[in-house]
Amino acid sequence: MTFDLKTYLTAKQQLVDRRLADLLAKETHAPSILLDAMRYSLLAPGKRLRPALVFMAAQAAGGVDSQALPGACAIEMIHTYSLVHDDLPAMDDDDLRRGMPTCHKKYGEALAILAGDALLTLAFQMVAEHCSPKSAAASCRALAQGSGLAGMVGGQVEDLAWESANEATGRAKKDPLFPRSDGPRTLETLEHIHLHKTGALFRTCMKLGVLAAQDDPDRGLLDRLDLYARCFGLAFQITDDLIDVEGNAADTGKNVNKDAARGKLTYPILLGVAESRKRARDLAQQGLDAIQPIGAAVEPLVKLMDYVLKRDR
Ligand code: IPE
Ligand code: IPE
Ligand code: MG
Ligand code: MG
Ligand code: MG
Repeated sequence: MTFDLKTYLTAKQQLVDRRLADLLAKETHAPSILLDAMRYSLLAPGKRLRPALVFMAAQAAGGVDSQALPGACAIEMIHTYSLVHDDLPAMDDDDLRRGMPTCHKKYGEALAILAGDALLTLAFQMVAEHCSPKSAAASCRALAQGSGLAGMVGGQVEDLAWESANEATGRAKKDPLFPRSDGPRTLETLEHIHLHKTGALFRTCMKLGVLAAQDDPDRGLLDRLDLYARCFGLAFQITDDLIDVEGNAADTGKNVNKDAARGKLTYPILLGVAESRKRARDLAQQGLDAIQPIGAAVEPLVKLMDYVLKRDR
């Protein structure tokens, strides 16, 4: 049977959405307005690529979906929290996300901050309670490393710190106390930001998948998948930056043409559109070369890399 990525992604999306909805439905001891705000952002129509990657990594490691599901849900909760906070007025100040008003536009800033906090902490609870006893601690650690100070959160700080070139609209005007980085805007700096703010969570997806499938994770396999995720993360953020320049709100579900106005450091701004596309293609090839020796079980990962290069949302 030939593998169809669209069918695969829809099936995994349904699996994850059902589990996430059940999980929130069971949380009856929380303020209902908090649960509403969490549900609003979490169950909004996101692409669910990070959960899909957890399932794909588990498959590459010989595991099955039921083993990978807790980690897949946890990473989506952390990703959604990162989006809710990323959209806040103090950060990217966006009012459209996943085709709907952003969480703070719908519920106000205080509740958006707290809904993000609650999604973050619920993710760890999910892993602690539902991953196998052998994998739970290591999975929590992987989640913390990817999402925290040396991963996504650290990357978000760098992203904002470099948002300074445009004195009129950038952070320098909006948030004058935020320490600015105003050294040379190089490709090295840009890749450092993207690897952390976006790449770190994708690398965590691979770890969660392998940990779910193997009690004693195969180091060689982990290294191959990690290189894939590193390349995937960079290629993914390049195409995210390109969508901001070339895409439209109807397809992508978020407002476009905002990065340049804020003086963000992005691929198209630094390298131009054509060179950015080439860089994404080169990274994709590097990621595919890394996993090719694993064998037939990586077919979904191969197809997903191609999808990321061509995506418009
Ligand atoms: C958007 O991520 C934020 C970035 C890391 C660039 P996605 O494009 O995966 O967003 P959803 O989950 O589909 O909404
Ligand atoms: C967001 O990057 C990265 C995280 C949320 C961690 P962007 O700021 O480029 O994402 P969008 O374009 O708002 O989705
Ligand atoms: Mg941002
Ligand atoms: Mg943003
Ligand atoms: Mg973006």
